Amino acid sequence: MDRNLALNLARVTEAAALSSAHLLGKGDKNAADQLAVDSMRKMFDTVDIDGEVVIGEGEMDEAPMLYIGEQIGKAGKNSLKVDIAVDPLDGTTSVANGLPNAISVVAIAPRDCLLKAPDVYMKKIAVGPDAKGAIDINKSATENVTNVAKALNKDISEVTVTILDRPRHDDIVKEIRELGARIKMISDGDVLGAISTCFETANVDILMGTGGAPEGVLAAAALKCLGGDFQGVLMPVGEAQMERCKKMNAEVGRVYGIEDMVKGNEAVFAATGVSHGELLEGVKYFKGNKASTHTLVMRSETGTVRFIEALHQLDKKPEYAK
Ligand code: FBP
Repeated sequence: MDRNLALNLARVTEAAALSSAHLLGKGDKNAADQLAVDSMRKMFDTVDIDGEVVIGEGEMDEAPMLYIGEQIGKAGKNSLKVDIAVDPLDGTTSVANGLPNAISVVAIAPRDCLLKAPDVYMKKIAVGPDAKGAIDINKSATENVTNVAKALNKDISEVTVTILDRPRHDDIVKEIRELGARIKMISDGDVLGAISTCFETANVDILMGTGGAPEGVLAAAALKCLGGDFQGVLMPVGEAQMERCKKMNAEVGRVYGIEDMVKGNEAVFAATGVSHGELLEGVKYFKGNKASTHTLVMRSETGTVRFIEALHQLDKKPEYAK
């Protein structure tokens, strides 16, 4: 894949972050999401790809833009045919409430390489490169933490598990506490939670628990670039969600490994911080009508991991100067 595509993807997530960050703490998650969607969609039109959204804002009848199946990109005769996974704003509630770790995120891979995951829950487990191969989503939290501790050559008391703070996780939280490992709760944003397992500075070893399946595909793409590991099992609730899985040929009960979710080795991933976080700074505003963004860009083919700090002149980009 064209290596410059990575930089263009950074522009796409920067645009979504710059638009939605104005609404930090303003209590309106839908408005923040809408601004991110609009800007991301617009910026995609400048990128030379023949793209199809496989992970997006929903089905065509429920999302006017970035819906599943939408064709996007400045498709020309020789443009690369790609699958696109987007979450213009992962952490809508975090932005609305002025909380950390909201990001705008995109992943791209050659056509038919990304899992077409329905918008249902997914049970997930993720680790960084040093614990690759040590996880099994069908095993208990105790077994997984123990095996990851061994792989990392750590005492169990030194292992940190990150989990979405939800009542549905009470049982694994209790189990991990009894085992003696550490827990880092996150209020939202399990894409970033999964990525954190690959960065020593984030001080997180495993992501466990249930979150959105679309976010699972984005996390798997990131972990593929970083050499980490990911497994997911779809957890539809009720008949309608079961039907949706069937319609999309997504197998309920199957363990989807990282190779099933992101085939081949040509994934490109970009994420820009919207609100402040440990791994990515949020959008910051400066006098003189300037704003800065902090973006993570990665390619699985080369394994290059780039952090890009950009300073934007908002008077020259009036669409972001709210
Ligand atoms: P949104 O930004 O779409 O609200 O998603 C945030 C998020 O925390 C995801 O990162 C996570 O996968 C999912 O919500 C968890 O779902 P729920 O909030 O229903 O527990």
